[in-house]
Amino acid sequence: TVTKKLLVLPGDGIGPEVMTEVARVVAWMGRARGIAFDISEDLVGGASLAVHGVPIRDEVIVAARAADAVLFGSVGDPKWASVGFDLRPEVAILKLRQELGLFANLRPAKVFDALAEASTLKPEVVAGLDIMIVRESVGGIYFGTPRGIETLPDGTKRGINTEIYTTSEIERVARVAFDLARQRGKRVCSVEKCNVMESGLLWKEVVTALHAREYADVELTHMLADNCAMQLVRNPRQFDVIVTGNLFGDLLSDLASMLTGSLGMLPSATLGAVDGEGRRPALYEPIHGSAPDIAGKGIANPLAQILSFAMLLRYSFAMEAEAALIEQAVANVLASGLRTADIMSPGMAQVGTSVMGEAVVRELDKLNG
Ligand code: NAD
Ligand code: IPM
Ligand code: MN
Repeated sequence: TVTKKLLVLPGDGIGPEVMTEVARVVAWMGRARGIAFDISEDLVGGASLAVHGVPIRDEVIVAARAADAVLFGSVGDPKWASVGFDLRPEVAILKLRQELGLFANLRPAKVFDALAEASTLKPEVVAGLDIMIVRESVGGIYFGTPRGIETLPDGTKRGINTEIYTTSEIERVARVAFDLARQRGKRVCSVEKCNVMESGLLWKEVVTALHAREYADVELTHMLADNCAMQLVRNPRQFDVIVTGNLFGDLLSDLASMLTGSLGMLPSATLGAVDGEGRRPALYEPIHGSAPDIAGKGIANPLAQILSFAMLLRYSFAMEAEAALIEQAVANVLASGLRTADIMSPGMAQVGTSVMGEAVVRELDKLNG
């Protein structure tokens, strides 16, 4: 067997807490399924600032490039609220995405049967939901220039950000969405605000042209982003794959997480382009942040992080059986009635982060026979 090189970056807040639980699952995969991992770990975010004075060191970027996959926790700490913008903990994840060219952020929102009751929406609205949000992740208003805060002649200031999308940036992420749709429900909904923004109008034109040229077998629809937010709450099952820009994708995926019961349930994969040697840079992380409000309490839901590792096995290593095994273990644990606080409902058994992680591993043992 080939040894898989993993770079593990737990980060801040609940990042290290949920990463501890994934480590159990990674170890189980080595032990029970014979997958050899070569694991290295490093500091990012506020944890790196505290030791190295920067949110991410160049050598961590180099290690990320050399790894077969990066498993990322979350960054952000109110302690660093007053550092300069270039030094904020969040720079770590933004820089990793940009330096590794991780342009397609896959955010699946899937409702586990046992959790249809946990959503704040009615179970009949969310039961069986399985959508994939493909968020562009290295462009748009997150990275466009000019940007900054300028002082005006009268002493007041203005803050500037710029939304930019080029034809090739739109095409490559749309291609990911269409390819995914072909393996699923064969439907893509492209989301922008072409009624207000030129970047949105170009987005729509480029997606439409690519669809006509190469993906006529997939159904393509278009939706304005504000309507999409409403439709996701009104009737989320109308969607299969949603493809959208960086900022809209960020908002819509946090919204979609609540359809599944909690922000603590949603994993993600962020993929780059396949290089000349057939390698594809990839980073896996939950969509939630460092959750400072619950950090250190041992109550965070580790399932988004564990499901991110399942995505890693699926997308980076083509280990579909092992990925499905983790997802089934999570489904069984939820069916057994265990709940972290964020997905708790009456009659269920509330547990902390570690008990949930241990339960997933026990379930993996059972499933593996
Ligand atoms: P957040 O996602 O950290 O938390 C939002 C809410 O959801 C909080 O009430 C939190 O307790 C809850 N929550 C999140 N994950 C949970 C889990 N696994 N289990 C149970 N509850 C969970 O968003 P925020 O509070 O707006 O941001 C906090 C910090 O995290 C900020 O610094 C932000 O920039 C950063 N952030 C980082 C990432 C990332 O690293 N990719 C993503 C989002 C936010
Ligand atoms: C996410 C986060 C990040 C983003 C922040 C921390 C930079 O919210 O991964 O969803 O906005 O992309
Ligand atoms: Mn976000």
